[in-house]
Amino acid sequence: MYHSGSVRNWKKYLQKDNHDLIYSRITGTGGYLPEHVLTNADLEQMVDTTDEWIRTRTGVVKRHIAAENETTCDLAEQASRKAIESAGISANEIDLIIIGTTTPDVIFPSTACLLQQRLDIHGCAAFDVQAVCTGFIYALDIADKFIRTGSATKALVVGADTLSKIIDWTDRSTCVLFGDGAGAVVLEASDKAGILSSHLHADGEYQELLKVPAGISLDPDKLRDGSAYIQMQGNEVFKVAVNTLGRIVDETLDANHLEKEDIDWLVPHQANTRIITATAKKLNLSMERVVMTVDQHGNTSAASVPLALDVAVRDGRIKRGDILLLEAFGGGFTWGANLVKY
Ligand code: UT7
Repeated sequence: MYHSGSVRNWKKYLQKDNHDLIYSRITGTGGYLPEHVLTNADLEQMVDTTDEWIRTRTGVVKRHIAAENETTCDLAEQASRKAIESAGISANEIDLIIIGTTTPDVIFPSTACLLQQRLDIHGCAAFDVQAVCTGFIYALDIADKFIRTGSATKALVVGADTLSKIIDWTDRSTCVLFGDGAGAVVLEASDKAGILSSHLHADGEYQELLKVPAGISLDPDKLRDGSAYIQMQGNEVFKVAVNTLGRIVDETLDANHLEKEDIDWLVPHQANTRIITATAKKLNLSMERVVMTVDQHGNTSAASVPLALDVAVRDGRIKRGDILLLEAFGGGFTWGANLVKY
């Protein structure tokens, strides 16, 4: 493959770490799924759908659903403990906690503060990021910037959601798609390059296509009576998602002067097999190089990327030094990517 001089230099930079700069590296991963499994066969008993329709249109076979008294923070705590353990650090070394979530336990305190208390960590900055399915991508970029500027040295970055709590279980167009879960990483300051670049975007122009149209200051009665549900114009979302994710692949490769062949693994948001396949095609990447969990997890919103990352790290597919493209797309619309040297 031909590379221009500047590209060759850049690649040297990717391989050879610059000891004058602070980078951030993922040093541990963790994931957690609630015990209860809801299969397509179960959904056939609940709404007018079929296993065949769900598998062929979405790729989902089963999803995990939180128990009634199980919260987003409960899931985040389990995933975080695993990430901390795999990083080989103790919780009190963490000096930043960021959670990407759209389903916080309570309006306030933030889920990150609740998690901080569970982990017996005191004093460090802790906050939630609300970017729906892109929440983890946003949170990872923010944590990377805290570390690069010297404001933090060991960050706990989590994506956790219990979308099952805002699903209308009589609406077949949405209830078959989503599941609950949490994924987490420990991100540490390092002289070795880890997060290579991040690319975050949003366009509120598309707010009507995917939304829960109720909250604290708009239609709070819906929150009180439990009728604040996800509404989605699936087909329209699908088209914009495919185009937008195609563009973010180009943007990420261009920003890093990389070729498609340089990506070892695509770790995509797990919304729909057909969207993931389209992104892999854009990268000329064989499906063996794409981490797929949508069949087992459904769409777990902000949890889907870190959960998929954790699965592929733990089963040994993703190895140290691999170049990973993490990407997501969600309500807002929001979308983004992180290029990671693992
Ligand atoms: O994570 C945030 C981002 N979210 C996404 O990226 C999701 C993007 N959208 C999608 O993944 C797909 O649009 C869906 C999976 C949601 C829907 O697939 P589709 O191929 O776009 O289906 P459609 O909405 O165009 O509906 C096709 C047909 C309709 O029937 P008619 O009007 O053709 O008679 C629907 O009523 O499928 C029907 N349908 C169902 N049939 C059986 C919709 N949901 C179901 C269902 N079971 N669960």
